[in-house]
Amino acid sequence: MEDPLRIEFNEWAKAGRGESMERGHRPVGEQAIEKMGVQLDAQVLDVGCGSGWAARLLANKARSGRVVGIDISDEMIRVAREASIAFPNLEYRVASAEDLPFENDEFTDAFSMESLYYYADMSRAITQIHRVLKPGGLFVTVVDLYLENEPSHQWIETLKVPVHLLSIPQYSALFVDAGFGEIRTERILDPSPVPEDYIGTSFKSREDYLAYRAAGSLMVSGRKR
Ligand SMILES: C[S@@+](CC[C@H](N)C(=O)[O-])C[C@H]1O[C@@H](n2cnc3c(N)ncnc32)[C@H](O)[C@@H]1O
Repeated sequence: MEDPLRIEFNEWAKAGRGESMERGHRPVGEQAIEKMGVQLDAQVLDVGCGSGWAARLLANKARSGRVVGIDISDEMIRVAREASIAFPNLEYRVASAEDLPFENDEFTDAFSMESLYYYADMSRAITQIHRVLKPGGLFVTVVDLYLENEPSHQWIETLKVPVHLLSIPQYSALFVDAGFGEIRTERILDPSPVPEDYIGTSFKSREDYLAYRAAGSLMVSGRKR
């Protein structure tokens, strides 16, 4: 049977949501990527890369290195490949985060934006990311749906796939259990203005959206010991 996540995110890709997620996620995602301090010769993995916007930002930093984006949705990967033709150091694979098709210790850095909480087995995926990182390698994830950001909880009933709602300490514990050290958590704010006439589809009201924006996105990072 085909993975329900692949079916759902293939629909998202066909509806142009890969590109709209770039607009929504990038103002926070690029701040997280700046904080990573990616080196010119870095080997970077983007887990759940969607349309590949973050992978392209990372490829601009690791210009003499290599960036690989993986996603369970073959349609997202198609969109990402089409938009990344100009990047010789960037490649994409259709793969599950819970079963990464890479050798141990292949990457210096891993990034994942708004993807982890969809995985059936988050703990397995974080352990896989730890496995493919070199010792000292950095994993940075950003999530917008988490316990301490209450307005984000309204997505749970509107999404067509199940998600995990974790607290900040629970995210840290998953990193610890996977073997990461130097774990840090931080909230990152989106600096873009909120329109007075906001009528987005992700929140019931502008007030909810403002509260969501004030809570910020959660960045969790850890280093392989
Ligand atoms: C909300 S989108 C975020 C995409 C992209 N990171 C961004 O910020 O625009 C979540 C992505 O995770 C992918 N995904 C979901 N489950 C996955 C899994 N088990 N393994 C790999 N990717 C997965 C989806 O296909 C989708 O592209």
